[in-house]
Amino acid sequence: MDTEPLFAPVRLGAIDLKNRIVMAPLTRSRASTTGVPAVFAAKYYAQRASAGLVITEATQVSHDAMGYCRTPGVHTAEQQAVWRTVIDAVHAKGGKIVVQLWHCGRIAASINRGGGGETVAPSAIQAPGKMWTDQQGMVDHDIPRALETTEIAKIAADFANTAKAAVDLGFDGVEVHSANGYLLHQFLSSNVNQRTDQYGGSIENRVRMPLEVVTAILEKVPSDRVGVRISPGHAFNGIEESDMAELYGHYLGRLDEYGLAYLHVMRPFANKIETDPVTMARSASAGRIIACGAYTGETGAQVVASRSADAVAFGRDYISNPDLVERLRAGAALTPPHQATFYTPGEKGYTDYPAMAA
Ligand SMILES: Cc1cc2nc3c(=O)[nH]c(=O)nc-3n(C[C@H](O)[C@H](O)[C@H](O)COP(=O)(O)O)c2cc1C
Repeated sequence: MDTEPLFAPVRLGAIDLKNRIVMAPLTRSRASTTGVPAVFAAKYYAQRASAGLVITEATQVSHDAMGYCRTPGVHTAEQQAVWRTVIDAVHAKGGKIVVQLWHCGRIAASINRGGGGETVAPSAIQAPGKMWTDQQGMVDHDIPRALETTEIAKIAADFANTAKAAVDLGFDGVEVHSANGYLLHQFLSSNVNQRTDQYGGSIENRVRMPLEVVTAILEKVPSDRVGVRISPGHAFNGIEESDMAELYGHYLGRLDEYGLAYLHVMRPFANKIETDPVTMARSASAGRIIACGAYTGETGAQVVASRSADAVAFGRDYISNPDLVERLRAGAALTPPHQATFYTPGEKGYTDYPAMAA
């Protein structure tokens, strides 16, 4: 297996990566009910710091932005204090780390916020499916309240303020979560967004909210420390994009104007699509691209060697192989992850996957 292309250094904006192997963002639900990361998160991330870049689990920008149970935030001093230990632990091992920022929108059960806050979305349309709550087990998603036109600037400001705080704290950058059916993706979508104001309807209108989030961040954080994650065609969390090619053609063209650190392109896992989103993104953007979605060392090396992408992110393999870089270099076997502990509290299934034997 020739994985050599994955080991060349690369620069994403202002962030220098020692290799092209990226730890994908992975929600692990080990934080407190108020979004304070677990103290042992520093150990977990440091174990994975030989990646060229670590992208944190999705992290909320406000209390309202929380949808699932036990996901972290980075908007309070208490949360930031623990993140500081994570950053220091990764940097001490020569790693780079960016925080993925999200707002869940309608993919939320208010009970997961432990009270307070409100579930909001582009339109008052409930998401299909159910989600886990510690108190009541599986429950329906909330019926969201449609955001008022005037409220959107506040959400963009939450992203911007949190991004600034994160970079001031020492994160090497921020990744805006515009994928997988969460709030930004809800605005992009042709079915979840049924708005009749300037944020709904035409493609120009549906990209407006995500672009306002990005431009608000860019007023506070240099563009070469900001990445955006997209998942074109990912029919997850009830998302449809009936005009996917035109939508992303326009969205990526606009994003490309900002000179971002990178675009992170996730291939759908919930469904199959005809267009390869990585190829699509490469032709629509001049900047760096991280590809993600069911890559192996071999197919990841191929996508880099063919210059379709500049780096490759691994998700599930990073849950169970803290030393994924060393294993790919050695051609060693990978440990499969235990799905039962993906989202359970505590260190089991989190910090206890061993490195390969010396
Ligand atoms: C347990 C788990 C948690 C995830 N959490 C996030 C997340 O917080 N943010 C995100 O953008 N994607 C998330 N994803 C998607 C992964 O980042 C990745 O795109 C996906 O697992 C496909 O890559 P893989 O085939 O290498 O696992 C998650 C996936 C899994 C399995």
